Amino acid sequence: MKKIAVFGMGYVGCVTAACLSRDGHRVIGVDISMEKVQALRSGHSPVVEPGLEPLVREQVASGRLEATNDIDSAVLDSEMALVAVGTPSEADGSVETHAVERVVQAIGRLLRHTDQPYTIVVRSTLLPGILEERLTPLLVEASGEQLGERIRLAIHPEFLRETTAIRDYDDPPFLLAGSDEDEVADAIFKLYPHVAAKRIHTDTRTAALVKYACNAFHALKVSFANEIGVLAHTLGADGHEVMRVVCEDNRLNISPAYLRPGFAFGGSCLPKDVRALTRFAQRNAIDVELLASILRSNDAHIERALQRVRDAGHRRIGLVGLSFKAGTDDLRESPQVRLAESLLGQGYDLKIYDPDVRLADLTGRNLSFIDQHLPHLASLLVDDPRDLYEHSDLLILATGVATHIDWQNEYFRDVLDLQRDLTSAPTAVVPTT
Ligand SMILES: NC(=O)c1ccc[n+]([C@@H]2O[C@H](COP(=O)([O-])OP(=O)(O)OC[C@H]3O[C@@H](n4cnc5c(N)ncnc54)[C@H](O)[C@@H]3O)[C@@H](O)[C@H]2O)c1
Repeated sequence: MKKIAVFGMGYVGCVTAACLSRDGHRVIGVDISMEKVQALRSGHSPVVEPGLEPLVREQVASGRLEATNDIDSAVLDSEMALVAVGTPSEADGSVETHAVERVVQAIGRLLRHTDQPYTIVVRSTLLPGILEERLTPLLVEASGEQLGERIRLAIHPEFLRETTAIRDYDDPPFLLAGSDEDEVADAIFKLYPHVAAKRIHTDTRTAALVKYACNAFHALKVSFANEIGVLAHTLGADGHEVMRVVCEDNRLNISPAYLRPGFAFGGSCLPKDVRALTRFAQRNAIDVELLASILRSNDAHIERALQRVRDAGHRRIGLVGLSFKAGTDDLRESPQVRLAESLLGQGYDLKIYDPDVRLADLTGRNLSFIDQHLPHLASLLVDDPRDLYEHSDLLILATGVATHIDWQNEYFRDVLDLQRDLTSAPTAVVPTT
């Protein structure tokens, strides 16, 4: 069995190399730092990480883990490279990719003069597009051949945390491989015979963005808990207890609920309650940047939808769904009402279809909200989706569209495929007939 070359003997690379070696692989760690290479050769871990020092000592002594600064010999002696070099921030915040580019180019240049099959697996964190648009052309140019036959390039983001890195290596949330080829994903998963975690094979861009989404989500969670903690303190509540109870809810809180990309939120509770918290914070001079940004972020989705309608260049518009979600006639703070209001204000010829909204049944605050925002709703509503379709040059498929309309209806069959592709409703759809 050939070796696995691990490029970059930092926190990720060194843990990966030592664990792969422990699991029976022959591993060669590669780093440009001679100091790190020397440390490894003498059985010491070049980074401080619980449990790593004895593991490195044991693996180096066993002969399965070696280290070098000579890229060529490492590649010649291996069949796969795991690239775990740093991708720090540039001064403007963008991803610095020089190290990973240099590694890929160096491997490519060497492969030009051999006929060995080789797979390069990037573990470093990279934004989608960098692998496809920067690393692939560099590798093709350096190796002198197209990828896919002999030379392969994939992404395999790492999810370990410093201080629990070995435990996380053995028990990750999942193993994620980004590649166009099943064979490459399988080769990656085969590195982990002892890891029970779910294997997820996806495309390279999705895999790369999952890593960023996870880290952004973790950062968001910390900031959220901190802001709730600060508010709790001022409001005389126990922030730790508040968050402990919040986390008890596995249905709506710690769950996939509310975590699908889509259109703006609305309704009678979310905007009102977020507003109340931020107003309280403002009055007490508490800086809650995150909470204060939520409604601004929501407004931006409505503005984006309006821009898409403007860009489409049609005047006769059909809006599917007016209430804030399908299955209710609650129109209070529905983003679709805001959308409709803005479209009317900008002179669009608008018709609305929403089988849940019957004007005669609206009462109380719901009615006064609509009187204030869409006083001529009666003249805009249509009862039959056919009327909407016939009126419109452009349909806006708003939230919950699947339950608003019978998509098998012949009038809507043409847009059925587009509906499946919806990622950020409302999507403007131009009827094809
Ligand atoms: N540290 C973490 O907890 C963590 C977790 C998940 C993912 N990541 C990602 O993994 C990647 C590596 O992170 P890290 O914290 O291990 O980095 P690090 O800075 O600790 O280590 C990077 C290593 O790469 C070496 N290196 C640089 N250029 C090289 C080259 N041309 N050839 C060989 N070696 C080279 C450096 O000398 C250094 O030892 C980054 O993209 C990071 O975002 C980090």
